Amino acid sequence: ETVEWDPEEAGKGEYDHYMKKEIHEQPTSLAQAIEGRIDPENGRIALADFGPGTFADVSSVQFVACGTSYHAALYGSLSLNQAGVHSTALLANEYSVAAPPVDDETLVVAVTQSGETADTLSALRQARANGAYTVTVTNVVGSTAAREADDALFIRAGPEIGVAATKTFSSQAVMLTLLGQRIAADRRGKPPADLESLLPDLAAMPDEIERVLESSDAASIADRYRGSRSYFFIGRGLGYPVALEGALKFKEITYEHAEGFASGELKHGPLALVTSETPVFAVFTGDEDEKTLKNAEEAQTRGAPLIAVCPDDHPAVEIADAHLEIPDTSAALAGLLANVQLQLVSYHAANFLDRPIDKPRNLAKSVTVE
Ligand code: G6P
Repeated sequence: ETVEWDPEEAGKGEYDHYMKKEIHEQPTSLAQAIEGRIDPENGRIALADFGPGTFADVSSVQFVACGTSYHAALYGSLSLNQAGVHSTALLANEYSVAAPPVDDETLVVAVTQSGETADTLSALRQARANGAYTVTVTNVVGSTAAREADDALFIRAGPEIGVAATKTFSSQAVMLTLLGQRIAADRRGKPPADLESLLPDLAAMPDEIERVLESSDAASIADRYRGSRSYFFIGRGLGYPVALEGALKFKEITYEHAEGFASGELKHGPLALVTSETPVFAVFTGDEDEKTLKNAEEAQTRGAPLIAVCPDDHPAVEIADAHLEIPDTSAALAGLLANVQLQLVSYHAANFLDRPIDKPRNLAKSVTVE
């Protein structure tokens, strides 16, 4: 498979920063990712890269990745667990010292935008040497990770210039969700029950993201909470990797302190840090939202401003101090819409602080040393 990249695309065009351009490209990059790969009318996934029954004998899946790709990997792993397939997401840089055992029924999926991250390559090589079946999910055709794995799945996001990954995260998460559904289907010999409702929602994602981009209040919220001491992001289930990614993006480009937590962990330590100067962004994706709401309220009671990222008719809107609206969609996808809102919050917060958004200090787009 080849992916054509228009060199013109590499300019910033009307945007002040590549990051903003890339955030706004997500309707297109996601449409490209799913094109020809889903068939909502017949309730089918069509991943032509993998022949029928490829994953029938896979007994467990390990995802290996770093940085933002790790958050996409965690998203994919949690969704695979929800589909009934045993899976874990592992930091590639920990893999050499902490990898669970693999055998020929283990699928190891390397998730890497560039396909060149040294830590991810060494985890991939280790897994392959130990007999696992390996697949790379990447944006770069011909990259080392794509060439070295048994198979590769391309996310087709187009070039990403901003050091902070944005559009590649959403495309990775979507492709890992599709791959997970396909693995679950191969193992059972029939598609998972909720695939029928997921596919039309997936087909609608580019439009839903467009709606978020057009109507987001992220700039005014970033302005309102400027100068806070620290920024917390919480979520449960598929909202958890989105919270981690929200915090990573925020710290990368604003240089302000931010942390992401599983909602339920807030009470096991982080609550000690909560004051009126620690806004809490709570991501609601439909995974036991009532519990997340309770966790968020505990922070709010201690003075933290609560920003709810959820649909308009969600109970969190009633109690939140601010609201970032996302359209209603499948629980498997809501986190991706929430993530777009959080990308915008980070972007605007960094812009107010006049940070070099596309090239944050000390960071590189691709880290080729261990
Ligand atoms: C660097 C980049 C991150 C990226 C990570 C993994 O740290 O600054 O944005 O998420 O590498 O990169 P990969 O190419 O493997 O996805």
